[in-house]
Amino acid sequence: MTIRLVTVFGGTGFLGRRVVMHLRKHEFSVRIASRHPARSRGLFGPDDPQLQSVEADIHDQRAVADALAGAYGVVNAVSLYVEHGRETFHSVHVEAAQRLATQARRAGVERLAHVSGIGADAASPSLYIRKRGEGELAVRGTCADVILIRPAVMFRPDDAFLTTILGLLRRLPIYPMFGRGLTRLQPAYVEDVAEAIARALQRTETHAVTFECGGPRVYSYEDLLRAVAREAGLKPILLPVPFAVWHALASVLEMLPSPPITRNQVELMQIDNVSSPQMPGFGELGISPQPVEDTLRQMVRAC
Ligand SMILES: NC(=O)c1ccc[n+]([C@@H]2O[C@H](COP(=O)([O-])OP(=O)(O)OC[C@H]3O[C@@H](n4cnc5c(N)ncnc54)[C@H](OP(=O)(O)O)[C@@H]3O)[C@@H](O)[C@H]2O)c1
Repeated sequence: MTIRLVTVFGGTGFLGRRVVMHLRKHEFSVRIASRHPARSRGLFGPDDPQLQSVEADIHDQRAVADALAGAYGVVNAVSLYVEHGRETFHSVHVEAAQRLATQARRAGVERLAHVSGIGADAASPSLYIRKRGEGELAVRGTCADVILIRPAVMFRPDDAFLTTILGLLRRLPIYPMFGRGLTRLQPAYVEDVAEAIARALQRTETHAVTFECGGPRVYSYEDLLRAVAREAGLKPILLPVPFAVWHALASVLEMLPSPPITRNQVELMQIDNVSSPQMPGFGELGISPQPVEDTLRQMVRAC
């Protein structure tokens, strides 16, 4: 049997590294394309002959083409959360996404999975959300049979989401909430999203499809904070803070090299991040998504 090769752009990232492992579990051979191949060799070790690490900047057309040579499929799990220099939301989420799709077509790659996010919308007033939406349109315009993956906010014990909430709840007896805490969230376990991507690439259907990957339960932001606090045995006072205040704070903090909060994160917290019941999701891929509580228990036990 021929082993099919999938190139994973962003294969060293929070989601991408799990996509690599799940693709290997499904017996794909994997080429990890990132700007730091030594990092991926450090992550996955040198022992698996079906794993290669190559250096490729998604802005470099030649490097993208080389990384795609001979591939059956490609996953774009590249992210950018804060703009700096030539790394803008437009250059990464629109131009580079389209470049990858164009080169994939040229190289005869059969399946492209493009990772975007729930809520991506080319008409949004938020620059970040608009560029995610424009990126989806650009990729779809180039590859009519693209698999779009829109995850909800993702968690795992080493994530930047629950870890931050738990750390802040432990330190702050009064916890400042985004707005009145009403935004609805449906956190998805990152391993479930990675498995969804691997299964989507295995499907034999070749028409365009969008999977919205949300976890088993929808929380209001306040309810989620209370669930985390409960698991950790904490009783914080949750203080509503208007979004305008968060925006002002984030625009100042974005001047730091690693800002703890950015305007795009604030904008994402202003709209519900919940999968649409009309869209295919985990169910269509035969996955029963894990709840947040199991991970929370693990995190609380670990410290
Ligand atoms: N995390 C979440 O909760 C969440 C929720 C919804 C959607 N998403 C989406 O899921 C995708 C993956 O997010 P993530 O959180 O896993 O991101 P991440 O941990 O920040 O990883 C980003 C990856 O992109 C690579 N990368 C960045 N710039 C690159 C460039 N110019 N050329 C090549 N590779 C580049 C990085 O590798 P190098 O730096 O080594 O090059 C890294 O492997 C993104 O589309 C994100 O918007 C994430």
